[in-house]
Amino acid sequence: MKETVLSGMRSTGKLHLGNYFGAALNFIKMQQEFNCFFFIADYHSLTTHPNPRALKANIKEMLATYLAVGLNPDLCTLYVQSDVPEIPELYLLLNMIAYKGELEKTASFKDKVRKPGQTVNAGLLTYPVLMAADILIHRANKVPVGKDQEQHLEMTRNIASRFNRLYQKEVFPEPTAFNFGEALVKVPGLDGGGKMGKSEGEANAIFILDDEKVNTKKIMRAKTDSGPTEVNSAKPVEIENLFQILSLVSDANIVEKFDTAYKNCDIRYGDLKKQLAADVEAFVYPIRQKANDILNDETYLKEIMAKGAEKARISARETIKLVRAAVGIDY
Ligand code: ADP
Ligand code: TRP
Repeated sequence: MKETVLSGMRSTGKLHLGNYFGAALNFIKMQQEFNCFFFIADYHSLTTHPNPRALKANIKEMLATYLAVGLNPDLCTLYVQSDVPEIPELYLLLNMIAYKGELEKTASFKDKVRKPGQTVNAGLLTYPVLMAADILIHRANKVPVGKDQEQHLEMTRNIASRFNRLYQKEVFPEPTAFNFGEALVKVPGLDGGGKMGKSEGEANAIFILDDEKVNTKKIMRAKTDSGPTEVNSAKPVEIENLFQILSLVSDANIVEKFDTAYKNCDIRYGDLKKQLAADVEAFVYPIRQKANDILNDETYLKEIMAKGAEKARISARETIKLVRAAVGIDY
């Protein structure tokens, strides 16, 4: 039997190149090898009360982008969290065994509470319980998550083993973090700092569905220095970042050409950026076209959502049956 892998994507909308190379690309490979569940975590996003219209548009855009990059609904189960009512049911039941103290100690919760002006709702406190329900509803073994989610996963394991112990039944496996493939890719941003990310400011990330003009403008404005003055000198971080992005979207000989120019101190950053913009566009164009085609086909999108929900609910219903029996809610 194939092992079950589950990943949740926060429904914050547009995907950037970091999401593509750091996550989506692995999903595409994983769906061949594992029993994969990929879902869009729309309930989770409600902790911050997004505008309903924006939320709706985001979900569709994310779904279309994941389909366009190559998630195949025949190979994996691709669904929206709120389409599976067994998840909130399990969330309710797990809330009965989650301790207030452990939830308050979660790093992500403490970060939120520290922010000035933040009102703290119960959904925020129990965010990790909902995440545990997402994972345990399919009795998943492997969860591809980054470092920031490891504590949530540990809480899922604690809740799973507590449930099994309390009800004297091995209902849930203890899921572990999953690193698929080789070393994790970290795509740098355009601002000369760390990683590409939505929260690092709009200008830092190249979004797959943004049009050529927007992406080119961002790339042309990316941070650079005044240029190398010594032959064979090391690149400062902001230049290294541009080379790294280039190596993801361009041919090796192009990267080498600019690398040599850098080493010889005759690089022109304007040319490097123009090349990067052209190659980013060549790379994202077919994905964007496909995503837009899907977005324009409401019937197809609805079909995909319904099919995903149906598949997800088969697995979810099995688990809920076991859970209800363990708890005693099966009169
Ligand atoms: P963001 O940083 O834009 O908020 P998320 O934190 O929602 O993105 O991440 C979604 C997925 O994309 C995660 O699996 C995360 O590891 C991956 N990811 C995000 N940014 C990058 C990046 N710059 N490089 C590699 N992977 C990334
Ligand atoms: N909390 C995750 C994040 O912020 C998203 C998420 C929700 C998730 N439910 C999940 C991830 C279940 C993995 C498994 O990225």
